Amino acid sequence: MSLIGQEPRGTITEKFARHVSSGKAEFFAQAGIDFIAGRRGGIYLHDLEGKTLINCHSNGGVFNLGHRNPRVIVALQRSLEELDIGNHHLISEGRALLAERLAASSPGDINRVIFGVSGGEAIDMAIKLARGHTGRAKVISASGGYHGHTGLALAAGDEQYRTPFEPLSPAFEQVPFGELDALESAMGEDTAAVIFETIPATYGIVIPPEDFYAGVRKLCDHYGAVMIMDEVQTGLGRCGAMWGINTYDVLPDIIVTGKGLSGGIYPMSATLYRDHLNPFLHENPFIHISTFGGAEVGCYAALEVLNILEEPTFLDHVHQMADLFEEGFATLKDKHADLLVETRQRGLMMGLKLADPNFGPMMTRIGFDAGLLVVYANNDPSTVQLLPPLIIQEDEVGQVFELLDGMLTVLGKAFA
Ligand SMILES: Cc1ncc(COP(=O)(O)O)c(C=O)c1O
Repeated sequence: MSLIGQEPRGTITEKFARHVSSGKAEFFAQAGIDFIAGRRGGIYLHDLEGKTLINCHSNGGVFNLGHRNPRVIVALQRSLEELDIGNHHLISEGRALLAERLAASSPGDINRVIFGVSGGEAIDMAIKLARGHTGRAKVISASGGYHGHTGLALAAGDEQYRTPFEPLSPAFEQVPFGELDALESAMGEDTAAVIFETIPATYGIVIPPEDFYAGVRKLCDHYGAVMIMDEVQTGLGRCGAMWGINTYDVLPDIIVTGKGLSGGIYPMSATLYRDHLNPFLHENPFIHISTFGGAEVGCYAALEVLNILEEPTFLDHVHQMADLFEEGFATLKDKHADLLVETRQRGLMMGLKLADPNFGPMMTRIGFDAGLLVVYANNDPSTVQLLPPLIIQEDEVGQVFELLDGMLTVLGKAFA
């Protein structure tokens, strides 16, 4: 018997509201969004009654390889025949193999890996490592940024997430994203780390100036600060390279990955770091513990994710699809010039900047009705994030544009 749809929609909603989140249930009821995910596969997500959405959010990259990628499922099934979570204190074959592959996929001497379960946990670890290594406290991040909801990650994110939980860890400072002068003014001999999402997603897929990260690198070198790139969304092929920061040709000290490393099948995150940061952890090998971080069964699922990403044609495909989106955007902008102010793109990390902050939430709502899952950027609701699975095919890109065109037409009529 299928696990999906054992209970009627109303009962599920009622149980969810009662036991999981009354607030979310109310939010979605008010938004008129009654989607409960049922079957899923490839770029498609179906609800309990079979209504279909094309997933152009991919949970921020979790579904880079589509829903229920068959190769990742087989890898997990295979690992379940012999393994379990493993023991996080002991030397582990699965972790050693996955770490070796992550190191090989990373630029420069980023050779070392700490495993986690979530992106927030891996960000926390990156900041702990920077503070431990430098013996300094100050962490500089971007206003409007988002790094997760755990302790240090939360402190580095936008103030709307932080304020209700203050006092948080001290010595965090935010600067406007993409502005080197502002960063320089905030930096000093007390700076432990600078952390940015390579392309901030929750801020609306803001593409920084081409020389921005070279400048960040220089400032970090000058002040002896650790440069941390949050690649939870931009990594693993999303920007047309293994890591988004590779497209800026800059070597950071730490790369944080999560979401897509799971293959959408088994949670996995990782903090990847350069050799010179290792002495702190070498001296203190048990200073950070994560029972489920790098769970052994998940290591083999993640290894298969890397196998897929590193196939010679994989990134070529991402570039081809990115070109199709670029062409489509030009037509869309001409046709809906009054609504669509700007399109933002690096590979398949894409965003639509609309003319009004109300338009993002409306596009999400209209998209639900039309059959396209797009999510507005919470820290700039005038933008809609567009992150299709990287395995999207040419005809499916065509379907996405048909839907976007129709959605913008509906939006235009609503505001005529
Ligand atoms: C850029 C970025 N960093 C970190 C995180 C936190 O990841 P998680 O939700 O797995 O803790 C997210 C989650 O959306 C993210 O988008």
